[in-house]
Amino acid sequence: MYDMILKGGTCATLAGIVKTDVAIKDGKIAEIGDIDPSKAEQVMDVTGLHVLPGVIDSQVHFREPGLEHKEDLATGTAGAALGGVTAVFEMPNTKPSTITAKDMADKCRRAKNRVWTDIAFFIGAAAENAENLHILEREQGVSGVKIFMGSSTGSLLVKDDATLASVLSNGTRRVAVHCEDEDRLEERFALVKDGAPVRMHAVWRDEQTAFLATQRILRIAKGVKRRIHVLHVTTAEEMELLPQYKDIATVEVTPQHLTLNDEAYETLGTKAQMNPPIRAQRHVDALWNAINQGVVDCIGSDHAPHTLEEKAAEYPKSPSGMTGVQTLVPIMLNHVNNGKLTLERFVDLTSAGPCRIYNVAAKGRIAKGYDADFTIVDMKAERTITDNWIASRCGWTPYDGMKVKGWPISTIVRGNVVMHDDQLIGDPVGEAVRFAECL
Ligand code: DOR
Repeated sequence: MYDMILKGGTCATLAGIVKTDVAIKDGKIAEIGDIDPSKAEQVMDVTGLHVLPGVIDSQVHFREPGLEHKEDLATGTAGAALGGVTAVFEMPNTKPSTITAKDMADKCRRAKNRVWTDIAFFIGAAAENAENLHILEREQGVSGVKIFMGSSTGSLLVKDDATLASVLSNGTRRVAVHCEDEDRLEERFALVKDGAPVRMHAVWRDEQTAFLATQRILRIAKGVKRRIHVLHVTTAEEMELLPQYKDIATVEVTPQHLTLNDEAYETLGTKAQMNPPIRAQRHVDALWNAINQGVVDCIGSDHAPHTLEEKAAEYPKSPSGMTGVQTLVPIMLNHVNNGKLTLERFVDLTSAGPCRIYNVAAKGRIAKGYDADFTIVDMKAERTITDNWIASRCGWTPYDGMKVKGWPISTIVRGNVVMHDDQLIGDPVGEAVRFAECL
């Protein structure tokens, strides 16, 4: 007997997107094919729906410990589950920053019995832990090391080439990097420091700021033969450079950099402020081209909640970041429905991609023996995204009022239905994501 059969759906299998049933047993995928419904205790009728491998959001900021007034692990993962996401990788710029084994153990302990999706945590790179990163990157629950080359929210920063080389020389797993050149940011801060319209954010943190940092980290990584993952790439110029480094570098883009352009500063004000910035349409077009050329390996949301009160501060005192974990799936499915990418490419970017980049064990495809993680979607559902729907403690989304076609109907984490029809179900059953290099 199976525990559950997903019956009658259109399923993104390795043989393509086909009508087939899927059976689940003990949290794993047990069979794919035409399956007799009497063989399971529970049958979920998914006729008319698409059954996709669970979406993994490999860049979220959930603010716990220290900044729980913005978000915590329970609210952040609730938003993820409501948005059809089955696993998240959480960033280290909490308070304190996650830079020691003790910080990491604390985050894992906090996640126990409180998270709605599976979860892993990044360890922050810093001058003081560079020597130990080869040990720290192997701790339980770690997705990898994260470098901030430019200051953003929090105090994590590695800005000079010598420390970057030392960080990249200590360890073997793939390193995630926020590429903005700190020296250039400091030089140009005069442009905004006495107050400026928020659209100046993209002038202060300009294309060259991003390009210089990406160019530097690619050269250093190539020199020390270390695999890196360039987070939230935003410029046409970086997308020209990155294909020359496909042996060592994978690439992320965010839904917001694919969806918003610099007109958003006029309509959304500081809600559109994030690092690296939302840019002009020519960059948005270049990111889409990079998706279609295969330069991009994954989509991550960079979910970075700040309260509306904090965002109301006058620029540049207003913090950078916007929510995104709950809207990643509907925003990208809307792009699928608009013909910007295929559903197959969506699956590649949100399930297979993160697993390939970080060597995730037994997730990211619908295949026998893999974790039974599913994002079940209705490609025909037309809904309006609203602040009301957002579970994040900060309660807002840059897409409030946007009509989309394509919506997550169920989220299944290792065989547990944690969301159905916009409601959380049962208990928070999330566990630590496992990685092939650290089993
Ligand atoms: O806009 C951003 N917000 N970019 C980052 O790199 C960090 C994030 C945050 O944590 O607020």
